[in-house]
Amino acid sequence: MTEALTLIPLDNVDPALVEALLDRAFEPERRQRTAYTVRDGVDWLPGLSFAAIDGEDHLVGTIQCWPVALTDGAGRAHPLIMVGPVAVLPEAQGKGIGKALMTASLGALSPQAPLPQVMIGDPEYYGRFWGFSNAATAGWSLPGPFDPRRLLARCDNPSVLPKEGMLGPWRR
Ligand SMILES: CC(C)(COP(=O)(O)OP(=O)(O)OC[C@H]1O[C@@H](n2cnc3c(N)ncnc32)[C@H](O)[C@@H]1OP(=O)(O)O)[C@@H](O)C(=O)NCCC(=O)NCCS
Repeated sequence: MTEALTLIPLDNVDPALVEALLDRAFEPERRQRTAYTVRDGVDWLPGLSFAAIDGEDHLVGTIQCWPVALTDGAGRAHPLIMVGPVAVLPEAQGKGIGKALMTASLGALSPQAPLPQVMIGDPEYYGRFWGFSNAATAGWSLPGPFDPRRLLARCDNPSVLPKEGMLGPWRR
């Protein structure tokens, strides 16, 4: 259990502080990751993105969610929520902050019509707590290199997910 942790909407936090936290949680080349290309040109979703603040008012973690789409062979775009990056400062990891951030974002999804969610991450972590799985994503493509084992989806009814498609930003 985390002591004195507060979650607030991410748009209450200075974007420069968020970037500095992501630089500490990830390698310096993080912007070259394929996940960045998938969401290129779209903004994160304020209602689903959160910051974790510790008891001393320091930013210790963030989660961002993005509007993306899987475009099938017929050119039809299926909207999805891309979850991540989830990032916790190295010295604050292992205290349940990542778990709290994930639970906040997934809990903020519309209960009436939750869009399926996609993420690139460790199936051991995201499968164990939230039911993300790579079972439905074997035929999905990304605009860059990726480890298919780590391409994960979560959906009430996985049979509605397209079997094949290219993941990219949601363009209205
Ligand atoms: C991955 C990350 C967000 C997890 O946050 P965290 O606050 O350290 O995780 P939590 O404390 O909530 O973890 C809870 C549990 O998950 C486990 N866990 C954490 N990361 C894990 C991983 N990558 N794989 C498997 N299990 C993991 C912990 O051991 C803990 O297990 P326990 O409850 O049995 O002790 C954090 O480690 C991080 O920022 N890493 C660097 C950035 C990154 O790789 N982000 C993910 C890709 S977007």
